[in-house]
Amino acid sequence: MSQIAPMWRASANPLDCSHPSERCVQRTVEGYLRSLGVEGKVGQMIQAEIANATPTEVGEYGLGSILNGGGSFPGGDKHASVDDWRALADAYHDAARGSARSHAVPLLWGTDAVHGHSNVYGATVFPHNIGLGAARDGDLMEAIAVATAREVAATGIDWTFAPTLAVVRDDRWGRTYEGYAEHPDVVVDYAPRVVAGLQGAAGEAGFLGEDRVLATAKHFLGEGHTTDGRDQGDVVCSEETLHDLHAGGHRAAVAAGVQTVMAAYNSWHGTKVHGHRYLLTDVLKGALGFDGFVVSDWDGFLQTAEDRAEACGRSVNAGVDMLMVGVEWRAAYHDLLQQVVDGTVPMERVDDAVRRILRVKARAGLFSCPRPSERSATEEGTGVGDASHRKLARQAVRRSLVLLKNNGVLPLRRDAKVLVAGDGADNIGKQCGGWTLTWQGTGNDNADFPNGTSLFDGFVQATAHHGGAVALSPNGEYAGENPDVAIVVFGEDPYAEGDGDRDHLSYSAVDPKPLAILRKLRERGVPTVSVFLTGRPMWVNPELNASDAFVVAWLPGTEGGGVADVLFRGPNGELAHDFHGRLSFSWPRHALHTPLNVGDTDYAPLFPYGYGLRYRDAADDGTGRLDESDTAVGRPARDSTRPTGSTYPR
Ligand code: BGC
Repeated sequence: MSQIAPMWRASANPLDCSHPSERCVQRTVEGYLRSLGVEGKVGQMIQAEIANATPTEVGEYGLGSILNGGGSFPGGDKHASVDDWRALADAYHDAARGSARSHAVPLLWGTDAVHGHSNVYGATVFPHNIGLGAARDGDLMEAIAVATAREVAATGIDWTFAPTLAVVRDDRWGRTYEGYAEHPDVVVDYAPRVVAGLQGAAGEAGFLGEDRVLATAKHFLGEGHTTDGRDQGDVVCSEETLHDLHAGGHRAAVAAGVQTVMAAYNSWHGTKVHGHRYLLTDVLKGALGFDGFVVSDWDGFLQTAEDRAEACGRSVNAGVDMLMVGVEWRAAYHDLLQQVVDGTVPMERVDDAVRRILRVKARAGLFSCPRPSERSATEEGTGVGDASHRKLARQAVRRSLVLLKNNGVLPLRRDAKVLVAGDGADNIGKQCGGWTLTWQGTGNDNADFPNGTSLFDGFVQATAHHGGAVALSPNGEYAGENPDVAIVVFGEDPYAEGDGDRDHLSYSAVDPKPLAILRKLRERGVPTVSVFLTGRPMWVNPELNASDAFVVAWLPGTEGGGVADVLFRGPNGELAHDFHGRLSFSWPRHALHTPLNVGDTDYAPLFPYGYGLRYRDAADDGTGRLDESDTAVGRPARDSTRPTGSTYPR
């Protein structure tokens, strides 16, 4: 082990090995480990994708795990039912347990339930993390994690690749919305609550019970700090910065008993984390005391060397215990086996990795629990799209909204005549963003969300039976008299990962149409309320100037009705719900105002970290007239070359 810098203090392990249940776990682990030959051990270290490995193959190779990546479903069917998911989980379970070569080690199925069980048709989709960060509500976070675990367990799946604990320092990064905040405070606060909600409280009754799932602290470490906010890029910062800014959430997750950690795609001073022994082994497993297992990111291990076999060996030797393989799992299996047989990967390293994997499986109760469809969590009527979960998601939407400007037009009366414009108004796919049904979140329309409510649906519900009227006109045109007010819903189209990387933060340079709509309405004397759907703060000075009120709704998910709850007064004209959200990301003053983070010297954001107006405050237009000169139009695009070994396109 290398010399570890003194700043890395251990987290207290909540799963004390003297605890009777842990002794039993240890016995199970050692028994199974002894029964596995080298091939069985290597099999445990491979995770294949459901589109690329049949249950029979998983059984035959004794694979340790499967995943469904974004946009992958049973039978390739986006509308696969809960029963289809359970049936597939049963098929994999039976194949793994019945396999002669695997010595009947049960298998783990992992999924990206990153804002609810968002790959599943009919599931409750919660706001993306950027909105939850604005809510500043740890109790809400835990409740969301409990509900998400219930939905995941209801489909027979054991493990979610969440929470993301990135501290995002440059908002051009395409994964900004997966982070809670630009400052570690919120992340450190939320990490243990989410882990406890997903897994149950470590060391207590109900930990990893049938309605809980394994959590993943991801991605370790530093991903929010890449140069220019490039996805999978290089992080150039001191070890103190890595520790002080980026490690806190992971430490808190380990202390809460998180059972898996996913390695990050980024490099640190030019060395890929997937091949970084100091960070993965010395710091994470050594100093921080993490005793679960490290899973690679999707083909992330391949980025550590040109040669595939060498890359497998290098990653495993650095401390990756399980290889998440996009497509070529057979190659990864044979490559790793070869590296073990020729001694490049020592047997002690393999035993350590497999021990960790078996330990997590034993803690999750997999050696003793029945087939997925026979578990209590998959009983009829539990879980996916449950009414109580949707109610919780709607509450989360209300609490995440941030009011940047209000000259008194809000809150609206329910008897108002409202024009609803913008391409985000009646578009559940857009309001959900990336990592929803498909990887990028694109190609989804309202019919793909049988339980969902668009923002427009919510406005209709708020005014119907109260003397109001709502007309939908995406381009803002209308005939006849002026409406009392126009709500214009616009924002970023869905994206995920590097596809969301941007050169600048100007919104109107990306889509000038909403600004034109707002200006035209203003010219006609119609008061305007902007509702901005976005995965990051953006330069919207022109849109702010053209709006009487400006609300940031982030990526609220399927329960769009939560927006109307706050925008409209109650049925008797009373104030029903005030705004609650506070920025967890500083708002830029111009299109290239990034990195911009609270605590910077010369910190001069347009709206500071923590900003958010309330109705109970006096009407406040927030800003005065803002400078509109910086549009970033025509600025040369950055070189968009992907890092070597990149996984694009999926
Ligand atoms: C992402 C991970 C995700 C994995 C599996 C990767 O591309 O970086 O966050 O868990 O895919 O879908």
